Amino acid sequence: MNTLKIADLSEDRINYIFKIADTAKKYSKTYFHKMHTLAEGRCLATLFFEPSTRTRLSFETAMTSLGGNVVTVADGVSSSAMKGETLSDTLMTVGQYADVIVCRTKEHLKEDNLKNVPVPIINGGDGDGEHPTQALLDLYTIQSYHYMRMQAGKLKVLFLGDLQYGRTVHSLMPLLARYDCKIYHRCPDNRKLPAGLRNLSEDAEASWEKRILPHVDVIYCTREQQERAEGEFVENYAMNYGLHDKNINDLNENCIIMHPLPRGGEIPNSFDQDQRSVYFEQARNGVYVRMALLAESMELPCYKIQ
Ligand code: NCD
Repeated sequence: MNTLKIADLSEDRINYIFKIADTAKKYSKTYFHKMHTLAEGRCLATLFFEPSTRTRLSFETAMTSLGGNVVTVADGVSSSAMKGETLSDTLMTVGQYADVIVCRTKEHLKEDNLKNVPVPIINGGDGDGEHPTQALLDLYTIQSYHYMRMQAGKLKVLFLGDLQYGRTVHSLMPLLARYDCKIYHRCPDNRKLPAGLRNLSEDAEASWEKRILPHVDVIYCTREQQERAEGEFVENYAMNYGLHDKNINDLNENCIIMHPLPRGGEIPNSFDQDQRSVYFEQARNGVYVRMALLAESMELPCYKIQ
């Protein structure tokens, strides 16, 4: 099954994936556990037409941790896309070599163009569209701190930053909305949420530092996506849409601070030692969740590892 957008991830799929991710996490240091041979003989192809550190490397770490192999086009430049090949032809071809494909593209991925590809395709971020696997690992991280509040529909989440181009938000916000979370957002006027997502959250506006910040359970920061904005920068982005040293004392003691990374100046390094900062833990959880998603997508016999 493909994973192109958050709507492809039903509640049942997510529960199953998180169960396997828990096993992966539990046995992450036990290298002789059965999990580490589950994908023996299988091959993952990572095809990245935009820059990536975390997504590509965590998928590749995930596949090798399952005992599988990896082939990669890491920069797009060395592929036949440069010769004018269509994405669907590239994926059809790579589908003859690999058992699963993770791709990151500049354009939005559409199921219709990919329906003949013989192996599952996972969206590793499609332009300013979606980033469903980041949303999965974000949800996994949030649940590990706030499971009860989430299940009770009491979770409060604040999204900060470039919400127009930040594709991780485009996947995470509708996913959280399924759990009836109270969602706030704060963004520059020229970086507003896409129209289809606007009814899911409330604008936190100018008084956010006093009115919203002390009460939320999750703050989700994002960088300014300058590469998508054709030279139209946001003035004082980090100053107005980031966190500052002075904010740390106002935060709720159980509030977690998240970021998909990479960060610009929107979270000061001084926050890194605070136990509420979980952005590097998100990156680590990415390996467990992606191990689980790969296993699920390839329909590996996961009953053998429980
Ligand atoms: C994000 C992405 O690529 O969308 N990074 C990631 O995958 N962890 C966020 C970003 O680039 O700002």
